[in-house]
Amino acid sequence: MRKAVILAGGTGSRLSPITRIINKHLLPVGKYPMIYWPILKVKEAGITDILILTSREHLSSFIQLLGDGKELGVCLHFAIQEQASGIADALSLAEDFVGEEKFLVLLGDNLFVEDLSPFVEQFYQQKEGAFILLKEVPEANRYGIALIDKQTQTVSKLIEKPNMKGPAYCVTGIYMYDKTVFSYIKKINPSKRGELEITDVNNFYVQQGTMGFNILKDWWIDAGTHESLFQANFYMFDNDLKGRRS
Ligand code: DAU
Repeated sequence: MRKAVILAGGTGSRLSPITRIINKHLLPVGKYPMIYWPILKVKEAGITDILILTSREHLSSFIQLLGDGKELGVCLHFAIQEQASGIADALSLAEDFVGEEKFLVLLGDNLFVEDLSPFVEQFYQQKEGAFILLKEVPEANRYGIALIDKQTQTVSKLIEKPNMKGPAYCVTGIYMYDKTVFSYIKKINPSKRGELEITDVNNFYVQQGTMGFNILKDWWIDAGTHESLFQANFYMFDNDLKGRRS
């Protein structure tokens, strides 16, 4: 059975003081808590076995809201990330859950429109490695950025929040991995901001030549700032869950 992991930990510091007591992924986006959207995107891609990673402090709120996932037509598992030590640190906690299988990872604050099914199929046809989805963005310095070799049409390098201006291909928080990801996570050290960076992990795949990619064409947002959270609310407001619950 295919599996997915949704990351819903972190400190949400850019949304402080709202996130001092409420986990970012429980804030409203449209008519629902933010976490509903990534769960429904995973389900739309045909994956119903989902691990949600969050902090000890907020775990009970997630369980109170979502239960075992039946209401949304999925099967939810939960695990605790004791400290917000980075996306790669959170991901390392999924090792037992995913076992030998390939899996999908979503950052819980990434909201988007496109159906992931074709990309998931593309990844499952790939013999090994990882897969990222990119999106063209106006400012490069807010995100992880992918440099693309135009001749070979491959990712040549990933840079986390580069000091560069202008448009670029942002690496969205939609990732797919094989189990080697866990051995790569063990090899990396904390970055200057004290986190285990997913970009460092992904660069191992780039170096091995096993990083697949595709580009999102439709609306995508990382709802981690006041402005982007506002935009996400505006965009998602007319969306409801008709036909999407079980
Ligand atoms: O949204 C895409 C961007 O997400 C990528 O382009 C970047 O390469 C990637 O590093 C990430 O950047 P952010 O600075 O936006 O990451 P943030 O700290 O906001 O965390 C993103 C999500 O991961 C959020 O939903 C919370 C979760 N998270 C984060 C950390 C640091 C955890 O579950 N645990 C953590 O320790």
